[in-house]
Amino acid sequence: MGNCIEIINVSFKYDECEEFVLKNINLTINEGDFVCVVGGNGSGKSTLSKLINGIYELKYGDIFVNSMSVRDASNILNIRKILSIVFQNPDNQIVSTLVLDDVVFGLENILNDREEIERRVYDALKKVNMIEYKDHNTNMLSGGQKQRVSIAGVLSMMPRYIIFDESTSMLDPNGKKEILSILKDLNEVYGITIILITHFIEECLLSNRVVVLSNGSIKYDGKPRDILYDEKFLEENNLDTTPSCKISNILKKHGIYKGNNIFNLEELEDLLCRLNLKM
Ligand SMILES: Nc1ncnc2c1ncn2[C@@H]1O[C@H](COP(=O)(O)OP(=O)(O)O)[C@@H](O)[C@H]1O
Ligand SMILES: [Mg+2]
Repeated sequence: MGNCIEIINVSFKYDECEEFVLKNINLTINEGDFVCVVGGNGSGKSTLSKLINGIYELKYGDIFVNSMSVRDASNILNIRKILSIVFQNPDNQIVSTLVLDDVVFGLENILNDREEIERRVYDALKKVNMIEYKDHNTNMLSGGQKQRVSIAGVLSMMPRYIIFDESTSMLDPNGKKEILSILKDLNEVYGITIILITHFIEECLLSNRVVVLSNGSIKYDGKPRDILYDEKFLEENNLDTTPSCKISNILKKHGIYKGNNIFNLEELEDLLCRLNLKM
């Protein structure tokens, strides 16, 4: 209990379906953590995040956010004040044509003080490096920029926890990099708890804790290094093998690399190139 998200024996099934899509999930995420939740399509990631902020009603088990149970309807508004979700498609999250208005929008519902609103909006836009775009039309922005504006909207509410549900999956590689580096800053500089939900196993390198969800159950909870290059494990849990996984296995086959150190993709490609080996 205390300042954490505590998920206790949570199971869930959709009303019209027989099968449980979450099965006895137990997970604690402390305030200040950066946790990756990774799983293939349909593994239950979005269902879990929607249970955490009370979009879906929990019937089996319990979830506490800073000691507030989601099963008590009177807690939901207070939970949403400290926990926000950024979804996949930025187009569905932008509501205004002007960047500034978009960030102001949600805040106007909870604050009257114009000065406080302005201070928070400017602060949020600065944190996502979008302040110079404040007077731009949201339709003209790239996917990555739109996603940064929706993150600013969330930040203006000053949450303690943010769940990013596949928030980079529709972005180009640059947009993805921008967002991931902002997430790292939000955690390290501002102490916001980040739960990064993804099906890209390599994004787990951002964190020292990864939770693997497969077919509604937790299959792994620990450091990324133990699973990142384990092709058998990745395959069994419907996760794509990654280029760096493939490269490191080639290096292992040639007896060049034996350990479990994590290299980034550029380092591995460079090594492969220098050794004149092919994938
Ligand atoms: N609204 C819904 N009604 C019925 N089944 C659903 C609904 N949403 C998701 N599911 C099913 O629940 C399982 C988990 O889905 P989801 O949580 O969206 O997984 P993920 O986000 O990991 O892709 C899947 O089998 C999916 O088909
Ligand atoms: Mg999903």
